[in-house]
Amino acid sequence: MTSKLNVLFSASELSEDKIEGKTAVVVDVLRATSVMVTALNNGAEKVFPVLSSSEAFKYKMENDAKIILAGERNTDRIDGFDYGNSPLEMKNEVVSDATLVMTTTNGTRAIRGAEKASDLFIASFLNAESTVNALLLHENIVLICSGTDGGFSLEDTLCAGYLADLISKVDKDILLSDAALASRKLYLSVEDDMRLFAANGRHYGILKAKGRCADLEYCFRKNEVPVVCKRIGDFIYAV
Ligand code: MLT
Repeated sequence: MTSKLNVLFSASELSEDKIEGKTAVVVDVLRATSVMVTALNNGAEKVFPVLSSSEAFKYKMENDAKIILAGERNTDRIDGFDYGNSPLEMKNEVVSDATLVMTTTNGTRAIRGAEKASDLFIASFLNAESTVNALLLHENIVLICSGTDGGFSLEDTLCAGYLADLISKVDKDILLSDAALASRKLYLSVEDDMRLFAANGRHYGILKAKGRCADLEYCFRKNEVPVVCKRIGDFIYAV
């Protein structure tokens, strides 16, 4: 059977019929999925994506294990949370054996919105190749760009294009939707100076203005963190 690959350009495009029974891959390069991938690679036991800070505080109150609250609103740390939304904060000595409870503006919303997918993976540039290797036996794949504030974002579309390109190189017969073809073409057109192009994006500019330059440099590194991150039950684990 010929496999299929689609791309949704933002969390707002999510609807049951687009993902039910399919394999979803959620991408939020800046920065939610880059944070999750890094934390799980550095020894976090699992990630629990939630929609609100009150859901996060409630989980912490009701559970005894080592729990770290991380995330952002308007890119800043949420009052009462342990960490913000920087992947560089997720060091081994911080996250080791912890449950990372996260809420972010777009990334965790996209993950929770994809609950009906039969399988769900978390991807970024950091773990693109590892994720693609884990996807090879999946026949109906939807790459979900978290986007920015309900709309299109350059960095997530570039990452979806990179994933689409890697998948197409291995599965030469895979059927790409118009959105997947466009993402791949966009990625290939700027492959050599991808970050320079992404720097024109709105969210990139906001993070740069807030001095998050080290995060911006890190989040565009390809395949630096070779971990596969998959939803099992309500949590995301390194598998
Ligand atoms: C989000 O989920 O909206 C982002 O991760 C925001 C951010 O860069 O902090």
